Amino acid sequence: MRERLSLNLQLFIFFLCLYESNCVQMDIVPDSERNSLPLLYQHVQYQQGSLLVEEKADILLPDTSPTKAPQPFIPLLAPSPLTPYTNNTMPRLSGLCTLKFSAADSMISTTAVDCLASFAPFLANVICCPQLQATLVILIGQSSKDSGTLALDMAQAMHCLSDVQEILTSQGANETLQTICSVYPSNLTEASCPVKDVNDFESIVDSTTLLAACEKVDPVNECCTQICQNAISEAARKIASRDGLSGINDAHILPGYSARLDDCKSIVLRWLASRIDPLPAKQVLRRISNCNLNKFCPLIFPDTQHVAKRCGNGINNKTACCSAMAKYISHLQKQSFITNLQALDCAALLGRQLQKMNISANLYDLCHISLKDFSLQVGSQESGCLLPSLPSDITLDQYTGIGFICDLNDNIAAPWPSTSQLASVSSCNKTVKMPALPAATTSGNDQNENYVMLPAMVACFMIVAILK
Ligand SMILES: *[C@@H]1O[C@H](CO)[C@@H](O)[C@H](O)[C@H]1NC(C)=O
Ligand SMILES: *[C@@H]1O[C@H](CO)[C@@H](O)[C@H](O)[C@H]1NC(C)=O
Ligand SMILES: *[C@@H]1O[C@H](CO)[C@@H](O)[C@H](O)[C@H]1NC(C)=O
Ligand SMILES: *[C@@H]1O[C@H](CO)[C@@H](O)[C@H](O)[C@H]1NC(C)=O
Ligand SMILES: *[C@@H]1O[C@H](CO)[C@@H](O)[C@H](O)[C@H]1NC(C)=O
Ligand SMILES: *[C@@H]1O[C@H](CO)[C@@H](O)[C@H](O)[C@H]1NC(C)=O
Repeated sequence: MRERLSLNLQLFIFFLCLYESNCVQMDIVPDSERNSLPLLYQHVQYQQGSLLVEEKADILLPDTSPTKAPQPFIPLLAPSPLTPYTNNTMPRLSGLCTLKFSAADSMISTTAVDCLASFAPFLANVICCPQLQATLVILIGQSSKDSGTLALDMAQAMHCLSDVQEILTSQGANETLQTICSVYPSNLTEASCPVKDVNDFESIVDSTTLLAACEKVDPVNECCTQICQNAISEAARKIASRDGLSGINDAHILPGYSARLDDCKSIVLRWLASRIDPLPAKQVLRRISNCNLNKFCPLIFPDTQHVAKRCGNGINNKTACCSAMAKYISHLQKQSFITNLQALDCAALLGRQLQKMNISANLYDLCHISLKDFSLQVGSQESGCLLPSLPSDITLDQYTGIGFICDLNDNIAAPWPSTSQLASVSSCNKTVKMPALPAATTSGNDQNENYVMLPAMVACFMIVAILK
């Protein structure tokens, strides 16, 4: 294994920039006794935006990386005065949801920022929805300590989901999260899982083993070793077959069994979230969901016919071919933020699609397509921003605004799939190096990161502006 130390410049881009400072007061008051959300005052000061560059060493680079050093990318954008895009309001709660919101209020604030208004659709797959799902699991898990149950009934589920959306919206989140993240009231119930009582659960499952496997999840290795994920599957199998249904009958998988297993996995996650404190539980849940996230390219590929027409049959006009390719790629660039590993998936998927259209030349090489060309483009310089494979939450700082980390190791050519290679490269193959995983996550302390501030830079980086 070739070890490489590299300076990884990751970028915090802040895009709440205003010429005038505004003060917004966030004021959330519960309107029901049972929703014991604390009175929360937060002064959000919007100031002139600035650009932060975070330096981190000791990051693994993908094998596909060329020898040249990664180039930092700094979006230089003309500042423009903007109005704050959230007016924080009072949530109108149903008063009928018994979830203990106070047990997860920092989770909820984080989720509101991760799913911020117009940004939510572009962060849905990578940050917003995983965080929302983790929040719901933790809310139910923590509340089970009082209620003794790991699921809500349907009536409760409807009230609670609507209350969660209300609270999030009041803190600036997009108001259609249920649609964006495909969350339904049934996702808060036990669905088809036959076990929901904490006592039942603990009488069936070896809870000590489960907790030991999942209390701490290794951010780098879990996706390959699957220590916690296997323990969750095992526990889910046990509770799913409680009523004698083993799922396999005469070597046939019973219909509905895999849905039942999934439903039982949710119950297992909620139990874990009742035994682990909210913040470490969130880390566990996000790390697990991250493993699935990085396996797939979330982009939707339009028809490749136009590219095939210009680039097929031996390329006789490189300019025409590459301009068709650029036009095609530009459709991908309007969809979503993606992680660096997802970008590898996307490059492989598109490459194979083009190969199926009888294009044998390496179009990525020919047209200088890099991995970051698959990401949403930010800034007037049209630079891509790939998120690290373990994307961190969006941050809202009262002085600097909103920020997130781009992985600047992505300035590498997109790998054209080799025709002999059938499956996509597994990131668990030790001979293939994983793109940057944040080194700081092993210590569990994000405060260790080293921030360098470039105060003169006004980074009015509005994704909104480039997407309109
Ligand atoms: C916030 O409230 C102010 C004053 O009521 C209004 O002018 C502005 O448009 C509101 N902004 C949003 C994003 O709703
Ligand atoms: C919420 O997301 C939807 C897309 O799903 C978008 O159309 C809408 O504008 C977003 N809301 C806000 C306040 O930006
Ligand atoms: C909610 O449940 C439906 C099936 O009932 C499922 O398709 C969907 O993925 C679930 N959503 C989440 C966020 O788990
Ligand atoms: C290649 O295509 C471009 C644009 O379609 C055109 O302007 C140019 O003349 C073509 N070159 C040749 C050699 O055909
Ligand atoms: C690719 O080429 C093969 C053989 O030359 C041909 O049979 C097939 O129809 C072509 N496919 C496409 C999509 O053009
Ligand atoms: C790992 O990848 C290398 C080349 O990338 C390949 O030769 C090897 O067979 C792979 N190993 C496994 C277990 O997939």
